[in-house]
Amino acid sequence: MPSPLAAQHHDGPIDDAARGALADQGLELRLVANGDADGFRAWLQAVARGFLDGERNDEQLQAGLDRLGQRRLVGVFDAASPDPERPVATFASWVAELSVPGGLGIPSVAISSVTVAPTHRRRGILRSMMEGELRRAAELGIPVAILTVSESTIYGRFGFAPAAMSGRIRVDVPRARWAGPRPDGRVDFISRERFRELAPGLFDAVRLRTAGEIEMPDGHWDRFAGTRPDAEHPERLRAVQYTEPGGAVRGAALYAYRENHDDFARSKVGVHRLVAETADAYAALWRFLLELDLVGELTASELAVDEPLLWMIGDRRAATLTVQDHQYVRILDVPAALSGRRYAAPGVVALDVSDPIGFGEGRWLLRVGEDGAASVETWDGSDPGAPTVRLGVAELSAVYLGSVSLLTLVAAGRAEVVPVRASGDAPAPADRAPADALAAAAVFAWPETARLSFWY
Ligand SMILES: CC(C)(COP(=O)(O)OP(=O)(O)OC[C@H]1O[C@@H](n2cnc3c(N)ncnc32)[C@H](O)[C@@H]1OP(=O)(O)O)[C@@H](O)C(=O)NCCC(=O)NCCS
Repeated sequence: MPSPLAAQHHDGPIDDAARGALADQGLELRLVANGDADGFRAWLQAVARGFLDGERNDEQLQAGLDRLGQRRLVGVFDAASPDPERPVATFASWVAELSVPGGLGIPSVAISSVTVAPTHRRRGILRSMMEGELRRAAELGIPVAILTVSESTIYGRFGFAPAAMSGRIRVDVPRARWAGPRPDGRVDFISRERFRELAPGLFDAVRLRTAGEIEMPDGHWDRFAGTRPDAEHPERLRAVQYTEPGGAVRGAALYAYRENHDDFARSKVGVHRLVAETADAYAALWRFLLELDLVGELTASELAVDEPLLWMIGDRRAATLTVQDHQYVRILDVPAALSGRRYAAPGVVALDVSDPIGFGEGRWLLRVGEDGAASVETWDGSDPGAPTVRLGVAELSAVYLGSVSLLTLVAAGRAEVVPVRASGDAPAPADRAPADALAAAAVFAWPETARLSFWY
């Protein structure tokens, strides 16, 4: 049952300005109804073409219909093309709860399936779709937009920035040596179907603990577990669960082997998913994976960049960590977004925010109380008696989840902290600058690392 906001978003009209801009080019921007099977199939074929996939067969199309049926689908149509019912551009979005610091969730608009046909590229179609759809979301009061990206160069101009990074680790298994806890519970093999049943509950129990995670999109669990009719090589997946001594299942993992035919004892294992509700489940499942016989190398992606696992092996250099930008955030409503999260330390910061598209432009005072809750009020620019942070909405979005340091952005020249004005015997502003930058950065920082454990 979609929430009222999700329904409003799904069924809302197309933005007039975006429609007009594309009509000027002889193109039609319109919604594609989820129930219009032919229209939806043509839209899915356009998405596949945009992402360099082949034509989808009936089974794959059906899986797409089942999976994306709840999303708001937008297409751009060119009546002059030989296949006018197949869109030349696609865009999908839906309302998803985004986990933010403090164990809370806020509504966000998640964006996916963004493509423009190579025949129609670089004439502003993405810009029209993006600006139009962001405007719709902002009008509905959705505080942030989020996406994962094919290329990191595309979305900064629209105010997005990576706010949660992802870690990929490669472990030289024989060298690693388990040095972590050895919990008393048991690890058992289960079927992929059983994993599919267990995983949503386990994930929902932990999702709000980690800023950057979102509600699992429809169809993702079947994709992971290979329980979709169009799954490729599902038989390669193995699943295990962790049961604590009391009998409750607290975690599960999915992995797959790749044999090494030249040296059987150096086979590879890829961890597709590991969900753990407790520290014991986490340790027991990783220990199981790192002690598999005949495995030379283990890889796992979309992990936290400071995964506890790295502290659970005897030889830290057995693990190589690669970091990538992953969860992109774009604040649409500054007061709603900033008051929607919690903060680790009390403080006051004045914010002077610029926004290329306008939604987040303005000046605010962010006041964080002893309880970590914040109030955000408009600021007229008079002496705030607190450090002033001048930055763009992309930079504010980057620090929003608490894992990108404002100090880093200041050092990179992407944000500026104006010191508190001197009064009486107080030190001159230049002397105060480092302390004020530190104080401002401390307000945004959150001790638990933000992470998103999948792509969408
Ligand atoms: C990325 C894509 C959607 C861009 O569509 P498009 O209609 O050509 O983009 P626009 O003409 O509206 O360009 C808007 C702006 O983005 C820039 N831009 C577009 N694609 C870009 C890219 N791949 N890298 C860097 N900048 C890009 C344009 O230069 C333009 O900049 P400006 O307005 O600041 O001058 C399209 O190239 C595509 O479908 N690529 C393959 C699929 C894909 O990667 N989709 C994104 C999934 S996250």
